[in-house]
Amino acid sequence: MFNNKTMLDRFSALETPFYFYDLDLLEQTLDAAKKAADKRGFHIHYALKANFNEHILALIQSKGFGADCVSGNEVQKSIDMGFDASKITFAGVGKSDKEIIAALQHHIFAFNVESIQEMEVINDLAQRLGVTANVSLRINPNIDAHTHHYITTGLDENKFGVPNSELEKAASVLRGCEAVNLVGLHFHVGSQILDMNVFKSLCVKVNEWKNWFEERGTYIKVLNVGGGLGVDYKAPDENPIPDFEAYFDVFDKFLERNSKQEVHFELGRALVAQCGSLVSKVLYTKSGIKKHFLIVDAGMTELMRPALYQAYHKIERIGEDKGEEVLNYDVVGPICESSDCFGKEVELPRCQRGDLIAIRTAGAYGEVMASRYNLREEIRYVYSEV
Ligand code: LLP
Repeated sequence: MFNNKTMLDRFSALETPFYFYDLDLLEQTLDAAKKAADKRGFHIHYALKANFNEHILALIQSKGFGADCVSGNEVQKSIDMGFDASKITFAGVGKSDKEIIAALQHHIFAFNVESIQEMEVINDLAQRLGVTANVSLRINPNIDAHTHHYITTGLDENKFGVPNSELEKAASVLRGCEAVNLVGLHFHVGSQILDMNVFKSLCVKVNEWKNWFEERGTYIKVLNVGGGLGVDYKAPDENPIPDFEAYFDVFDKFLERNSKQEVHFELGRALVAQCGSLVSKVLYTKSGIKKHFLIVDAGMTELMRPALYQAYHKIERIGEDKGEEVLNYDVVGPICESSDCFGKEVELPRCQRGDLIAIRTAGAYGEVMASRYNLREEIRYVYSEV
């Protein structure tokens, strides 16, 4: 995608580093997801935490997606961007009273409730405001998502959701919460999941818990199975759009439900990761005794994933290949931390000061996780017109 002169000419005029968003690709991805979901009557709430850039949000909102939020500010941002409050979910283990009150006043679709105590607090606040709170109870299904341990969320040892052992109590507390209306069950087992068997196991657990509630006379209208579908970090050009058909097919096949029960998803990464790249300029090249270093002007402050999760992102030089010899570079940033490294032994044509590189698949959990550490400048972005 970046090995052409047009991109190089366009980017050379811009101050680096910056995020580049390909809104055409985003649109194609959204259309593919929507088509596959609509066909099966499924609902998608876009997980704002993956990227809340306004151009991205505007496009997602215009396609009719709902929003999945994890803070009061994300709820407010969704409302400001025109998302329908009746399509907003609000998750997170630590919602403050202020955040709960604001969401109640907006009459959002549902709170994903993560503990019994939280349910009682939501009930109290809703009673005080004279409203009813719609909630989905987040159950921790104890499923190993086989992903990085920092982004697995559905195991007993994780802080998320109500564990099996507490469900009996949760159900009885719920019956006493007059201002709370249980609309559904919520699950989310982790992120960057490419093995469809993980989602199949999730369906089995969802069926079990839905039946458990129904046997006790509680009807479950909404089955919210969270997000987590992964993307191809190794080959972004070969696989720019995730296989939404295969993903939704698993739920279509294995989730037991009647025609009135709704299935909801909270996709983040799968929708926005491939449309974003971090563009950075080579400041210096340096050859150590054992290594060639490419020192670029973006750092872990602009894209934290490699430093935080040892995540792989494909790195390319922007512009045409002129047949230079290929070297193995450690691509590092300017931050005073050894972990400030985007990739080790990255094969690239011999680079010069001033060359531009693209760090691919950075549209999800990139710009949103940027920090001002080292008093870095606020990260810029550019985007292609749709
Ligand atoms: N729903 C819930 C309850 C979540 O916790 C998450 C992500 C999502 C939905 C969206 O998941 P996705 O479809 O994007 O996988 N910063 C990490 C990822 C953290 C994911 C946190 N939860 C990374 O850069 O890999």
